[in-house]
Amino acid sequence: MMKYLYKSMKIRIFAFAAIAVLLLAACDDGRIYNEVAVDTTGQSARLTATITGLDHWTDNYTVSLAGFAEGDDYASISKAVRANADGQVSMTLNNIPDQVTSVRLCVLDRLRRNVVTFSEVATEGVRDTIRLELGTVDASMLNAIQQGYLNTTCANCHGASNHAAAGLNLTAGKSYAALVGVASRKVEGHQLVAPGNAAESVLHMVLHNEHVEGISMNHFDLVSEKNAELILPLIDSWIDGGAEQ
Ligand code: HEC
Repeated sequence: MMKYLYKSMKIRIFAFAAIAVLLLAACDDGRIYNEVAVDTTGQSARLTATITGLDHWTDNYTVSLAGFAEGDDYASISKAVRANADGQVSMTLNNIPDQVTSVRLCVLDRLRRNVVTFSEVATEGVRDTIRLELGTVDASMLNAIQQGYLNTTCANCHGASNHAAAGLNLTAGKSYAALVGVASRKVEGHQLVAPGNAAESVLHMVLHNEHVEGISMNHFDLVSEKNAELILPLIDSWIDGGAEQ
């Protein structure tokens, strides 16, 4: 009898100890979490816009509403943008971390790096909700490439002045018809953009090689290190995904 009582007490003590350990572990977990959790001002950003072109993005990119710290290419916080059937977007990004200095409608890659920015608002000095009221935005892959790259790096020689080098016009509204499915004037047997096949497209070739047979101009040196990392994969992904408008 004594022996039995002793044994059952032992079990109870063991059970009590086990529960205590579990509880402690749970509390401890809470404390660790608090230490790791970022400080937030509890600030929110609200995006209202009509956004087109969200449908044809390849899955390695996300059109997002995102917050960035000064000088940081990686989003501190982000939320994918979804539009209703009419393209209307009305969304809020909550609990924006303290270090965030700008909120952007932008394209993020898988690592949540900012590839292209469509619109940006500084958070400094904004006391209440940060508002992005953007009207209509074309957030298609093509426009991301146009706005984020062709306009600034290529259009000068290709159509923005009176002249379009190699007869190729890369300005907004013209570039798609000039590139997609169009035979190269310089590289025999190749299209400038062959939908579904980036590697065989002259657009890819000139950006990835110092020398391309048939083309006298070195385009490779125009590509900055950052654009080589961010924009060139976007262009390839667009072409391989079918080069949609
Ligand atoms: C400094 C002027 C200049 C800039 C900037 C420039 N290009 Fe060119 N590009 C040329 C010239 C000149 C040719 C024709 C070369 C030749 O005749 O061999 C050409 C040819 C091309 C071709 C080949 C056309 C064909 O029919 O095969 C493509 C594609 C091209 N450029 C794309 C671009 C892109 C994309 C950019 C932006 C990254 C760009 N170019 C920036 C001057 C420029």
